[in-house]
Formats: sequence, structure tokens, C-alpha cells
Amino acid sequence: MQYLIGIDLGTSGTKTVLFDTKGNVIAHKTVEYPMYQPQNGWAEQDPQDWWNAAAQTIRSVITQSGVNPADIRGLGISGQMHGLVMLDKEGKVLRRSIIWCDQRTAKECEELTEKVGKERLIEITANPAMTGFTASKILWVRNHEPEIYAKCAHILLPKDYVRYELTGEFATEVSDASGMQLLDIKNRCWSDEVLEKLDIDKALLAKVYESPEVTGTVTKEAAALTGLCEGTPVVGGAGDNAAAAVGTGVVEDGKAFVTIGTSGVVFAHTNEMAIDPKGRVHTFCCAVPGCWHVMGVTQGAGLSLKWFRDNFCLEEKAVAEGMGKDPYFLMDQQAERVPIGSHKLLYLPYLMGERTPHLDPDCRGVFFGLSAIHTKYDMLRAVMEGVTFSQRDSVEVLREMGVELHEMLACGGGGSSPLWRQMLADTFACEVKTVVSKEGPALGVAILAGVGVGIYDSVQQACREVIRYKDPQPPISENVPVYEAYYQVYRKLYPALKDNYKQLAAL
Ligand code: XUL
Repeated sequence: MQYLIGIDLGTSGTKTVLFDTKGNVIAHKTVEYPMYQPQNGWAEQDPQDWWNAAAQTIRSVITQSGVNPADIRGLGISGQMHGLVMLDKEGKVLRRSIIWCDQRTAKECEELTEKVGKERLIEITANPAMTGFTASKILWVRNHEPEIYAKCAHILLPKDYVRYELTGEFATEVSDASGMQLLDIKNRCWSDEVLEKLDIDKALLAKVYESPEVTGTVTKEAAALTGLCEGTPVVGGAGDNAAAAVGTGVVEDGKAFVTIGTSGVVFAHTNEMAIDPKGRVHTFCCAVPGCWHVMGVTQGAGLSLKWFRDNFCLEEKAVAEGMGKDPYFLMDQQAERVPIGSHKLLYLPYLMGERTPHLDPDCRGVFFGLSAIHTKYDMLRAVMEGVTFSQRDSVEVLREMGVELHEMLACGGGGSSPLWRQMLADTFACEVKTVVSKEGPALGVAILAGVGVGIYDSVQQACREVIRYKDPQPPISENVPVYEAYYQVYRKLYPALKDNYKQLAAL
């Protein structure tokens, strides 16, 4: 037997999955870690936590499964995108990583736009300056922590730091590198022009590969820590969304997926590069060599639900623990008893600012329409509906761009909730499908590893062989106009509050 490993380095934890070459799960293990929020709108994680979690989970899947490590043909890593990891010349981490949902860099985004030019920046990097993206984080460290910047010899993304620990190589791949805002998205290489204008030394950046290419092999030290064989190939892998696309078979035009992890994403594959001139959705290279994708991002999707769970559902958490169930399962049941519209309560999921469609680091969450009749269960359902409405905003932008959306897959934590899937189908007014495997990003990078080591001929061929679909969930026709009516109120709230958000942020 031959096996492949997929590592999914997420924001709440790292999950490692051991697959056979048909995509069946042989063993999996997750280890969680904290996110630090030293100030309102800031978000950091410790790269050492990522590596410890990766090493521990790899060791665990090998031990649990009893497979011979020599039969593990390759490994791929999927990762939360955009996080800034800075290493000194000895390869030591210089500071905690400033991660994707951190919003501290509004000033640096202005600096970036001014130095590169608004239009030129979009022409090269396919996106306007974003607080979430890595380039503005690099400028922030240079502006605020010059002593750290001076010591920085290597800049890596979160999953590429784990790759460095595994292989000793400073490497990245096109899908994740796209989110640094330093890549020439059309030509799939670092942009000398952007780097020169920002005065960032190219030598700080990792070598760029296509996602299925082998980037290095496991070192003796990493083998001793993880239980892998020295020499096991590690492929490029992908940013978490590009990886989820492969893991759900979204590798051709017309296919799209919606996911609710910590962030929420609506992602569509494109064989040709498509850019929203208003920059409301991102255009990145995808994990299929020579192709791209467009995606809209909700900053606080699963994050909103986790926030609600941790602050208001402690009882449900305790009961779920006692029953050996996931607290979200109980929360779903409670939310299902509340009617559509949550008794006229709306929620804006902007806990960490918002990207699609507002591009506003200063906006924050809102419950709108709160009355004395409301219970926490109305609020819970409103949170779920608000996240769904924000994903509808992304779908609207993609539709406006003329991106084909024939097939909508649902994945991520939210995708496994039948209630949430129905909400998506009813709100988008289209069928929503799921795949049999729940391992989206981990399966996606395991497939990329299989392509890299020659088990499959191409990403598309591998997906045809490995990905299996469940029956689609159609919209319930009488629900569609009800959600539509609430969505129309929802979409008017941000414009009404826009200036007030700025005032609040300035206090
Ligand atoms: C994508 C994005 C998030 C992170 C964390 O642009 O910021 O999806 O990758 O999941």
C-alpha cells in the first residue's frame, strides 16, 4: 500500500490526515493552539505552536495507523494564508506571526498604494492594498519594529515555516504566495517592480514553486521528531482555500465552493485570470498549474460562531462535552427551532473588520433589531444567517463579474451542518453539494503530493479518481423569498453605518 499525508495548518489548530491513494482517511489528529489579540483588531500566533502541532500530529497519525513510514510517498501542507513569519539568519523566529485577520496595517496599505500606484498594484498583484495581506505587515514591522526588521533574513508564510522545519528549505508556492501582495499574479513569480518600489530585498523571500512540485525532502532531524522517513518528498501544497478547492474537486471552470472555517470564503476556479476592478474579491493563482481563482472573504465567519459559543453557550458546551458531542451540533439544533429571520434580528459579522465587499478594517459586528423578545437562540441563528448573507455578498460580486458558477460545493466546519447548507442553498437560490470526504484542504494537499510524486498524472485526473459527491441539497422554494427580504435589509446596514465605524475607530 502507498499513503499520502495532508497537513492543514488552520487558525484554531493543525490537523494532519493520513490517506490511502483513493483518498480514504486512515488516521487523523488535530492539535489546537491560541490566537493572541494584544489590541482590538490585532491577531498573532506563535510559529513554534504550528511546528509543535504539525510534528505531534504527524507522529500521532503514523503511530495510530501502524503504517510503515516508508510507504508514505509524499506530504503536502495547506495553510492559513497571509501570516508573516520572520526568521533571523540562523533560521530562528524573530517575533510572533502577525496573521491574516490582523487589521493593524491601514496606514501601511496607504504607503503601499502610494509607492506602487493604485492601478499598477492591481495590474501586478491583482488586488488593491489589503490590511490582511503580508506586504503591509512587512511594512508595519519595518515602521514599528525596525530592530526586528534589521535582523530579518527570511520571510515565510505559516505553512512554509512548517515546510522549513520539515525540509530545511525556504520555499513557497504560487497559491499562498499570491496572498503576499508581492507576486506578479499573471506571470506567477515575485514582482521585481513591487519589491523595488517597496524597497524589500528579494533575497528575503522564498523560492516560488507550482503547488504540486516537490520543494524538498524531510531532514534527518525532522524525521526523528515526526516518525517520517528521512527523504520523504514535501510538495508545494497550497493556501487553505486553494487546497480546499482541490479537496472538493473545484479544479475546472464553472465550479465553485463556499466554506465556513474561521473565515468564510466563496471561491470560483477560472482558467483565465479575472480581476474585479473594485478589488472586492481576490484574484490568486490556484493550485492547478497555469490556472487562477477568484474568491470573496468574510473575515469573521466561523469566528463569529466560535465567539458566540465561547461567550454565550457555556452551558451547551458543558452538555455537549458530557454527551461526547460537538457543541456546534447542539447549537445547530437550537438555531433550527428559530424561524428564518431570527424574529427580525440581523447580525453583521464584522468582528475583525471585513473584506468582501467592503474592504474596511474599521467596521465591527452588529446585532440589528434587538428587542426584549429575543433570546440567545435568536441571536445564535442571526449569527448564522448574518454569515450566510455576507457570503451572498461575495456571490453577488462574482455574478457581477460574469464568473461562471454552475456547481456550488459546501465545505469546512459550516459545510458539515445541514442547517447551514440549507441556509446557503436558500440564500444563494441554487443547489449546494458536498463531497463525501470531510477533509477538504488536507485531502487537497495530499492529492497535490500524489501528483508531485507521480501517483496521479494531473490535479484534474486525481480529482476525478478521488473525489466523490453526495446528493445535492436544493433550495426550498418558499424559503428563498423570505431570506431574500432579510438580505435586502442586511445589505443596506453597512452603508448606513460606514461613517459611524470610522468615528468609533478614531476614539
Ligand atoms: C484568505 C484568508 C483566509 C485565511 C485563513 O484570503 O485570509 O481564508 O487563509 O483561513
